[in-house]
Amino acid sequence: MRDSRHILITGASSGIGAALATDYAAPGVRLALHGRNEERLSHVAEQARQRGADVLTHIGDVTDAKDMAAWVVGQDAEAPIDLLIASAGISGGTALFCESADQVKAIFAVNVTGVFNTVQPALSLMMQRKRGQIALLSSLAGFRGFPGAPAYCASKAAVRVYGEGLRGEMARHNVQINVVCPGFVKTPMTDVNPFPMPFLISAERAASLIRKGLAANCARIAFPLPMYIGVRFLTALPQPLIDAITSRMPKK
Ligand SMILES: NC(=O)c1ccc[n+]([C@@H]2O[C@H](COP(=O)([O-])OP(=O)(O)OC[C@H]3O[C@@H](n4cnc5c(N)ncnc54)[C@H](OP(=O)(O)O)[C@@H]3O)[C@@H](O)[C@H]2O)c1
Repeated sequence: MRDSRHILITGASSGIGAALATDYAAPGVRLALHGRNEERLSHVAEQARQRGADVLTHIGDVTDAKDMAAWVVGQDAEAPIDLLIASAGISGGTALFCESADQVKAIFAVNVTGVFNTVQPALSLMMQRKRGQIALLSSLAGFRGFPGAPAYCASKAAVRVYGEGLRGEMARHNVQINVVCPGFVKTPMTDVNPFPMPFLISAERAASLIRKGLAANCARIAFPLPMYIGVRFLTALPQPLIDAITSRMPKK
């Protein structure tokens, strides 16, 4: 596949999305960056410009379907989108109790509906021209519901399964769909976790692994490998044993 020239990234004001924006920034690359926090998004945009990229920013909320459609379609009209990365997401960030009812609603609104709002407008455009790539940020937490973060895990499972299905559907239109399943990545989302996070990696390392996986059009970009193997092993165990193990895990 040729290098992506026009790249849209949601969640670009922080963490993995910001690291991806910086990683992809280069002369000849047009970056359209989306986030809510203007100050942080401008800072990321400035760093990307310094690396030679042409950068546009959009302040918005992924739960606003109309605004997302207008942004995606508008960007595509300026230059056909090569790669769209849906990274915006939230977690409950609750260390002591399970996610509250309000958090559950917000998690599904941002992590599931927000992803749908981002991806859907691009899909039809890419299908029509039979070219394009879309990366969806799921998580290793999307392979099993873990105590402390059931809604977060469920939202990431939804994104993973949606992406896997889309990949088969879109292949015949020559549109590539990739599901990204990171383990623990050091970002503001995980900075609130008051427990040791096994195989924690930097956002820069995560961005590099994601970029490599996208260039190779990997169906599932899951990392770090030992964590991925651990999760797959855990989910293959009998349910009572999984319950016994996960009930001893620290809560997100
Ligand atoms: N960090 C990890 O260990 C990890 C592991 C697996 C998967 N993930 C997934 O990776 C993605 C990025 O996470 P991260 O760790 O980089 O988190 P982060 O540093 O907290 O960044 C989250 C990004 O999402 C944006 N966002 C949140 N709600 C939004 C909304 N309603 N509308 C628009 N933008 C919104 C934020 O924008 P503002 O800051 O401007 O509000 C921010 O740019 C998420 O989908 C997350 O679930 C993360």
